[in-house]
Amino acid sequence: MSLDVQILTALRAASDVAVSGAELSQKLRVSRAAIWARVEELRSLGYDIEASPHKGYRLLSTPDVLHADDLISRLGKTKVVGRDIRVFQETTSTNDVIDKLARDGVKEGVVVFADSQTRGRGRLGRKWMSPARRGLWFSILLRPDLRPQEVTRLTVASATALRRAIESQTGLKPEIKWPNDILVYGKKVAGILMELSAELDQIKYVVLGIGVDVNLNPGDFPAELRKIATSLKAELDRPISRPDLAVAILRELDSDYARISAGQFPALADEWAKHGTTIGRDVVIRMGNRQVRGRAESLGEDGELLVRTEHGHLERIVGGDVTLEK
Ligand code: BTN
Repeated sequence: MSLDVQILTALRAASDVAVSGAELSQKLRVSRAAIWARVEELRSLGYDIEASPHKGYRLLSTPDVLHADDLISRLGKTKVVGRDIRVFQETTSTNDVIDKLARDGVKEGVVVFADSQTRGRGRLGRKWMSPARRGLWFSILLRPDLRPQEVTRLTVASATALRRAIESQTGLKPEIKWPNDILVYGKKVAGILMELSAELDQIKYVVLGIGVDVNLNPGDFPAELRKIATSLKAELDRPISRPDLAVAILRELDSDYARISAGQFPALADEWAKHGTTIGRDVVIRMGNRQVRGRAESLGEDGELLVRTEHGHLERIVGGDVTLEK
């Protein structure tokens, strides 16, 4: 744990009470001068830390910046997700960074955030707009013990976790459009791009990329997206703290990843269905050149969508673009 993490953790634990330099120095086994130097550095990053010669240090507020040490300090101990967090100012796509780490043999659970992405991508080859410091653009490396055909379980679990975190941080009631678009009042606020490397019967690794439109203004969206996409800030009329939301999402993902690893997928699928917009609706699904029209009946046991087609067959849909008819 870096000294910054230890200082922030100690100040957070003390809450409103000031912690003296002597106490910190003794606890963290470094000189008071070293503590002072780190506090100055944290202040320059926007952390409002009160320093009084008699009482000591008090954390008054934290800035809306993604700082790896701070995220680690707030998240605390997790089982897998977030045991290593890295923050970049700019990347092509955080999925690319994680893919490279995966090929280098890094352990699962590492998370990479970027303040902005120059080549953010969405599902089905679409571009994903990622303006600097307006959203959460991040990816996670997972090495689940699942067969490739079971990977949709992870999609369902991530969407459920993401929805729950957004609800707890904003009070909004987001819905999930299959497979993993998060909608608020019918408009998309977040999406998930899962890329995997697999052998015939075993997944090698999964790159789970998540994009949340947190503090974008309506004018940040290109005109063609304004009808279908929105941000949390635009819906709430107030900005949302990106680090708070990031920590909430990682915590929920860690807990849902543990649930699917422990065979509790059915409970997650029930939660997904409770907040889904898709089941019971007439849908059109486009998969490359193919199109399926019918009614979405239920979620299959691996998280796939079961659609009763207009010809009466039950079709198992594992990917594609869903349009809700009515
Ligand atoms: C979608 O709904 O189409 C999925 C969008 C996923 C966007 C995120 S942002 C972080 C990660 N890096 C990318 O290039 N894409 C994902």
